Amino acid sequence: LSPQLLAGKRVLLSAGPTRERIDAARFLSNPSSGKMGYALAAAAREMGAEVTLVSGPVALEAPYGVDVIGVESAVEMHGEVMARAPESDVVMMVAAVADWRPAVASQAKLEKSSMEPVLELTRNPDILAELGERFGPGSGATEGPILVGFAAESHDVVARGRAKAARKGVHALVANAIGGPAGAFGADESTVHVLVGAQEARTHRGPKSALARAIWQDLAGLARG
Ligand code: C5P
Repeated sequence: LSPQLLAGKRVLLSAGPTRERIDAARFLSNPSSGKMGYALAAAAREMGAEVTLVSGPVALEAPYGVDVIGVESAVEMHGEVMARAPESDVVMMVAAVADWRPAVASQAKLEKSSMEPVLELTRNPDILAELGERFGPGSGATEGPILVGFAAESHDVVARGRAKAARKGVHALVANAIGGPAGAFGADESTVHVLVGAQEARTHRGPKSALARAIWQDLAGLARG
């Protein structure tokens, strides 16, 4: 195990859920705990990287030596990630970004009424897909970060992960098995399949801290050019 595998690399990660405001007292979100992204940030720092973590709201402490930028919504996360991506060597999107947000966020708390409420939603930016268009393997870019995506899948994990990697235009993707006893959301243990280009998937199972180290090792050979 090479402890300084990422020496001198600038690593940008996202983690956690996003919150999409409905009004002053309500939001839409998901059960992401942020544990996998935080473990990856901590491991990257231990391996010598300079690490920035753009984090949605989570109940975790900032990993030692990691620059944490707190955000709430997908739109905020998009702004912080896009601003920092060009100066990064690796961008790893681990966040469970909400796909939609309320079309209108009310500053005041909405009143309960006898009418059935109707919530109009609008699509959030797909941060990873946008990065893929700009820097991904099909973009023609000769510089910029290596892009790593995550996929939470309940079945056909590897095949669906490969399809997602192609769709998003990333260099590598970590496919995470959700559901069942070793499910990903909020759990301390998980199963991941690391997909790098057309190489065979590498599968790891265990605590998220060990998975984080294994994932960075699998990605170590990835470099632009
Ligand atoms: O589209 P889906 O959510 O399945 O893809 C997951 C991957 O895309 C993750 O790496 C996630 O962080 C990223 N993503 C994103 N912006 C979105 C939705 C997902 O960057 N709006």
